[in-house]
Amino acid sequence: MKDFTGKVALITGTTGIGLASAIRLAQGGATVLACGIDEAANAALALDAAARDLAIHPRKTDVSVAAEVEAAVAEAVSRFGGLDIIINAAAVHPFGTVVSTEFETWQRCMAVNVGSIYLTAHFGVPEMARRGGGAIVNISSVQGHNCQQNVAAYVATKGAIHALTRAMALDHAGQKIRVNSVSPGSVRTPLLELAARTYGGEGVSVEQAFQRFGSAHPIGRIGEPEEVAELVAFLASDKAGFCTGCDYRIDGGLTAGIGVK
Ligand SMILES: NC(=O)c1ccc[n+]([C@@H]2O[C@H](COP(=O)([O-])OP(=O)(O)OC[C@H]3O[C@@H](n4cnc5c(N)ncnc54)[C@H](O)[C@@H]3O)[C@@H](O)[C@H]2O)c1
Repeated sequence: MKDFTGKVALITGTTGIGLASAIRLAQGGATVLACGIDEAANAALALDAAARDLAIHPRKTDVSVAAEVEAAVAEAVSRFGGLDIIINAAAVHPFGTVVSTEFETWQRCMAVNVGSIYLTAHFGVPEMARRGGGAIVNISSVQGHNCQQNVAAYVATKGAIHALTRAMALDHAGQKIRVNSVSPGSVRTPLLELAARTYGGEGVSVEQAFQRFGSAHPIGRIGEPEEVAELVAFLASDKAGFCTGCDYRIDGGLTAGIGVK
């Protein structure tokens, strides 16, 4: 499945869906610059990539900081020759209503979850255009469509990602750059572990909480990061040449129903 031979990808987030996407694209022949803020996760990814003989290069990056993203894009170009693909998977997931969420937390959530998509494109799109085109995949969430309580800042960013995806798709279609988003339901990642620990309940293990989350999905389980990475890879590949400006749900049927039995 060497669908990314010769391609250079910049991926944000070095755990969970970002990690699975980095592995999937590198298995397809891509050279990946994996930009994450978590140094332990970056180090673990470097070891994993070396053991699998994959061209994944973790880079400590705070993707909410313009100078750091600019430097990351510059590194992709100078080290690997250009940039073809951007996968935006970095995110923070604060809990709270608009009343209980501090303004600093609100701003941080906006800067990481949405600002990073602006920044990777602001610096990356001109490089992709120089290569004759490319693909951007933004990881949103079903919570950009329908939402739970107590996640006001997070869902605001996920709705913004859908709108920004459409805007970028229209603006850059002429440069042969396709832009899509993916909206997962619950997926087994560190972010969902945080939700399990926060809402799992007294004495409930993370795995038990995952089973409860999974039972809310018609398919009866939570998703795996590799399943999301497969959709990300399709959208990033030339096979998705007619796909742009859309959001693709991967949610085990979660948002198909109206929640009444
Ligand atoms: N896991 C789920 O159930 C689920 C559901 C819907 C959407 N999502 C979305 O999937 C995407 C990936 O999340 P995940 O589930 O893999 O969780 P995750 O916590 O494993 O991944 C998020 C990554 O972002 C990184 N990050 C946070 N702030 C950063 C910053 N300032 N700079 C660089 N990196 C930063 C974290 O270190 C982490 O590696 C996110 O956009 C998330 O909102 C996840």
